[in-house]
Amino acid sequence: MSKRKLITAALPYANGPVHIGHLAGVYIPADVYARLQRRLGNDVAFICGSDEHGIPITIRAKKEGVSPQDIVDKYHEIIKKSFSDLGISFDEYSRTTSKNHHNLSQKFFKNLYDNGKFTEEVSEQYYDEQAGEFLADRYIVGTCPNCGNDNTYGDQCEKCGSTLSPAELINPKSALSGNIPILKETKNWYLPLNKYEDFLNEWIIEGHKNDWKTNVYGQVKSWLNDGLKPRAMTRDLNWGVPVPLPNAEGKVMYVWFDAPIGYISFTKEWAEKNNKNWKDYWQNENSDLVHFIGKDNIVFHCIIFPSMLKAHGEYIMPTNVPAFEFLNLENDKISTSRNWAVWAHEYVEEFPEQQDVLRYTLLSSAPETKDNNFTWKDFQTKNNSELVGIFGNFINRVAVLMHKYYNGKIPTGNENAVELSEITKAAKEIREFLDKYEFRNALSSLMNLARFGNQYLQTEEPWKTIKDNPEKAAQSLFVSAQIAVALGQLCEPFLPFTSAKLLKMFGIEQQSWDMVENSKTLINSGHAIHEASLLFSKIEDETIEYQIQKLEKTKINNAKTNPKANPMKDEIIFDDFTKIDLRTATILEAVKVEKADKLLQLKVDTGVDIRTVVSGIAESFSPEEVIGKQVMILLNLAPRKIRGIESQGMLLLTTKPDGKLSFVTPDDKVENGIEIG
Ligand code: MF3
Ligand code: ZN
Repeated sequence: MSKRKLITAALPYANGPVHIGHLAGVYIPADVYARLQRRLGNDVAFICGSDEHGIPITIRAKKEGVSPQDIVDKYHEIIKKSFSDLGISFDEYSRTTSKNHHNLSQKFFKNLYDNGKFTEEVSEQYYDEQAGEFLADRYIVGTCPNCGNDNTYGDQCEKCGSTLSPAELINPKSALSGNIPILKETKNWYLPLNKYEDFLNEWIIEGHKNDWKTNVYGQVKSWLNDGLKPRAMTRDLNWGVPVPLPNAEGKVMYVWFDAPIGYISFTKEWAEKNNKNWKDYWQNENSDLVHFIGKDNIVFHCIIFPSMLKAHGEYIMPTNVPAFEFLNLENDKISTSRNWAVWAHEYVEEFPEQQDVLRYTLLSSAPETKDNNFTWKDFQTKNNSELVGIFGNFINRVAVLMHKYYNGKIPTGNENAVELSEITKAAKEIREFLDKYEFRNALSSLMNLARFGNQYLQTEEPWKTIKDNPEKAAQSLFVSAQIAVALGQLCEPFLPFTSAKLLKMFGIEQQSWDMVENSKTLINSGHAIHEASLLFSKIEDETIEYQIQKLEKTKINNAKTNPKANPMKDEIIFDDFTKIDLRTATILEAVKVEKADKLLQLKVDTGVDIRTVVSGIAESFSPEEVIGKQVMILLNLAPRKIRGIESQGMLLLTTKPDGKLSFVTPDDKVENGIEIG
């Protein structure tokens, strides 16, 4: 009977593009698994989408000087396209800023709230009075109590690696304004995870001792041994799913509360489009839920999300949570901020016809049980000696010989030839390895079939036997054709583009896994095949050299870059710059804006006209101090209303070491209205 398979892949944060580490450790294995399940005839829902809330998004937005919405809009599209370009066959790829997701998350939250599953706790959190915001741990910087590093964030010290809480920092400052934050009381809703310890122990520690991966099992066990504590499921933040309760203004759900609910809300979106019932997948014991994730996500998928589901009460638990370790690049940790990565979107641009080469190399070094390494040299070798030299070579020889001796038609042969059992063996092995999430072994079984085909041709030598033993030659090519088609069928989960090409070349439709595993013949005698075409092509040294040079440049740039400075914003072209109208100007009048500690209302002579500008400088200057000052103004900034006053332009400012502002001015006094550039 066909089984429902609900397969999820960790929702990538839409704060940057995806790289080979993400692909090797989550998305490609998940895709292989999903594709096999479909071929086994199971009812598959393969679900993913962008994780668009949380601090990683707001931090990126601040860095790029744009809104969080701008960030997620940009990266959602880039990520989605990379996945589809690489053949990742999600049934649904949605996003957590969608209305449907907000609705379902709020419904879920409300359900737990109404059933008394949350506790309310008041705690003291750092608050930036100037910004009027509570500060997430990441938004507090200070001195590390362990190593004395000055630029340490409130959650972790990047220098010595220790995990911190903001209260431990010496001289904490707001990363938003540089001001000293105050402690302020705030109420949040907590999920008492300690109440779910017995359930988790029984379900995972007792129940999945033997079938879950040791890295996953071990981590869960150690968390449970340490004992669980209530965890806040809401945050004082202005980016996220609003908490659907009265008196909860300014509060949103913790990103790890709403994001996994994304798996559910995206299934619902998919089900609605396809005339299915999402509850068949999420609330029915006949459904198998499998989460593909990276190791840093284990606690969220094995402890927090299951506790949420348990608290709700109507959901199934995952059957398995295959978590992967990390992939390094050229023996160095992949890092978005250091740009040390091979980006998926750049790969597909630079290797447009070679999606399967990346899928193959990443699968063959998938970090299944320990961290693994990707090198460009390895990539080249795997392509040239394995894909070209073994797989492609075999298929090409079979097709060429078929045309040479049999007019492109499969000759007659014996269906009971013992060599054909290799096909059944490979199909069975792949299926069984994938059932245990052993992707590298499964891939080896596939390649072993191609190796077998090559050796078989080599020993049979049909190009010799064709003269004095044509029957033997026909048998050899009959068997070889079966193996070639089997490779086309069996490589589909791993190498979908290659599979399509190969099956097309042999004029064969894709069949179910069962058929391939159990039939005697996969292509009939007399069946005509198309022209031979190459499945893979050699990757030259220059191509690899170029990629290595690209990484070298990154290294040099990183060595030159000051780690304390924000990284450079996205490159612009000269035309972008010429759109900006910067002028010299002089401040004529200045008054305080009522009830706004930070703002001064200014009258400015821009040389073009005299206009009003509202500027956030009141804490650095008194009105008297600024009158008569020569400044620089961004003249063509669209006017904005600030506290009811229309501000017509923006003055250029910088920050001094003490946190006070300072005007950017010309070296010598010049006339007003002079263009800067
Ligand atoms: N965005 C998270 C990360 O990249 C993963 C979220 S998975 C989900 O680590 F379950 F929360 F959706
Ligand atoms: Zn430190």
